[in-house]
Amino acid sequence: MNKCLCCRKTTADGSYYHKSCLKKLFGSEKPPVIKFDTADLVSEISKNAGKMSISGVQIKASVILNKKSNIIEIVQSGGTHILKPEPFEYPELPQNENLFMNIAEVLGMEVPPHGLFDMPDKKKCYIIKRFDRSFAGEKTHVEDMAQLLEMPPDSKYESSIEKVGRMIRKVSKRPFLDLINFYERVVFCFLIGNGDMHLKNWSVILPEDGNIRLSPCYDLISSKLYLSHEDETALAINGKRNNLKISDFEELANFLEIDGKATLNSLNKLKSAKETIIRILDDELSPERIKKLKEIISDRYKRLSEA
Ligand SMILES: Nc1ncnc2c1ncn2[C@@H]1O[C@H](COP(=O)(O)OP(=O)(O)OP(=O)(O)O)[C@@H](O)[C@H]1O
Ligand SMILES: [Mg+2]
Repeated sequence: MNKCLCCRKTTADGSYYHKSCLKKLFGSEKPPVIKFDTADLVSEISKNAGKMSISGVQIKASVILNKKSNIIEIVQSGGTHILKPEPFEYPELPQNENLFMNIAEVLGMEVPPHGLFDMPDKKKCYIIKRFDRSFAGEKTHVEDMAQLLEMPPDSKYESSIEKVGRMIRKVSKRPFLDLINFYERVVFCFLIGNGDMHLKNWSVILPEDGNIRLSPCYDLISSKLYLSHEDETALAINGKRNNLKISDFEELANFLEIDGKATLNSLNKLKSAKETIIRILDDELSPERIKKLKEIISDRYKRLSEA
């Protein structure tokens, strides 16, 4: 029995993708073909340095699916998807991201369609649909927290979760709902060992109808899997980046004036999700990385239940 490389649930016919998952991701039911591999991407990026509209630390490309040829093409503008290959220094990072985006979705968080695809070098890459582009390429305006807080991009770690939350409350048209969504993501990131949620990993969407909202999730990974000494959180929580305790998350909820009952519901929901998370940690990554992930997650759960 095979599992779908998008949602990781079993497929009835033994194929590697559910047609419905491909349809959501590309608007087409056929798995696309990728003709470039990581090395090509590196040379393409260095050739076009400065022109790519997506910038960041990891190698990635802005891509579209050519519907006629069914081939994924790298584009300089108008990309509808983001493609991330496996970085040399972080093995199985595409699988890591796909896994935690799937877990987030199972826990009820808003996640764009995404999946894993083969490159010619047999490595997997991760592709996610852009939430700020329609399949036809129409744009919705997005701003990340570095922009909203008027911080230079190289200061993306120099802020706090409280400042991000305050900004969400200020700009969102559904501030209470978005704050609770934000809060759940913050606690989730602690539980999975994601210490890289800096200002550029939080965004709001600003559609023309004025319905400004927290954007769907992106860049959810367990960074601790590779960086064992990394700070627990990229942005300070209750003035701390390490040794976080349940009381720090309770203080955060108080500071953001999230309704007490809603906070408790969210914490209980996440606390009771441990078995679900562990169950989804299947064979998507190698056994030794799954073992390490289980240790990271179990340790974080223990910490969250300690006074
Ligand atoms: N699904 C998406 N839709 C629209 N924009 C997105 C999406 N995913 C990511 N982005 C934008 O692209 C940027 C880079 O993506 P992402 O954070 O996933 O890459 P990264 O290289 O892993 O980032 P980092 O710099 O945090 O390591 C994000 O900061 C965000 O602005
Ligand atoms: Mg990022």
